[in-house]
Amino acid sequence: MSWVPDEHYKSHRVAAEYDKSRFSSISGKIFNHLEKRMVGKCFHKLPKAQKIVDVPCGTGRLAEALLAHGYSVHGIDISAEMLLVASQRLRTYGSRFTSEVADVKRLPAEVPMYDGALCARVLMHFPLDQQIGFLTGVARLSRSVVVINHSLDSGYHRLRRRLKRLVGHQASALHPINNRDIRVLLKNAGLREVKRRRLFPIISEAIYIIAEKIDPENSRTP
Ligand SMILES: C[S@@+](CC[C@H](N)C(=O)[O-])C[C@H]1O[C@@H](n2cnc3c(N)ncnc32)[C@H](O)[C@@H]1O
Repeated sequence: MSWVPDEHYKSHRVAAEYDKSRFSSISGKIFNHLEKRMVGKCFHKLPKAQKIVDVPCGTGRLAEALLAHGYSVHGIDISAEMLLVASQRLRTYGSRFTSEVADVKRLPAEVPMYDGALCARVLMHFPLDQQIGFLTGVARLSRSVVVINHSLDSGYHRLRRRLKRLVGHQASALHPINNRDIRVLLKNAGLREVKRRRLFPIISEAIYIIAEKIDPENSRTP
């Protein structure tokens, strides 16, 4: 049976094991620490005390980093089980952390807007058309900046993935993205890339794109 990211995390067992299975090894701990720092850097232009929507919030791993930086966070996720772990983890932040179970690909016509949005560790699980649907939903929730995490697909990373498979490692990103499709993804979600950051480009595919919403009035070609 194929792996369905919309369903996989709706399990108490998967939610309880999520952080331990990914971030408890030495390399996992280092990556987690650096990724949290990276997310803080990506939002550095957004004044503290503003409210960021984190979609998908998962177990609140990155929401925690944003709360520590002084932001308020609203976490949205399709899995109530993942959000339960997040709420327990972040209870010390009181009303600065709120959460909501929702499918971001099927948001209602009217949605509240937040000062910024984070979309991490999810797009690479879907084919491009579904990534566009997901990111369009996230972008609708933000007034300005949207920070996106993805897995870069370049010739070098394809070779690296092939070598990893040869020694028995399974690649985690099912749908890494190349630069051309990044442009397609952002444009269709109503976003424009402002800056790109990388964590260990030689050993990691992870990219962090800081994007802003395209103003439809100003983007019209004459
Ligand atoms: C790999 S986790 C990433 C969580 C978090 N961003 C992080 O970096 O730790 C992916 C999450 O996406 C959520 N998800 C999948 N499809 C979704 C959808 N359509 N709407 C909202 N959340 C979704 C899953 O429930 C899961 O919690």
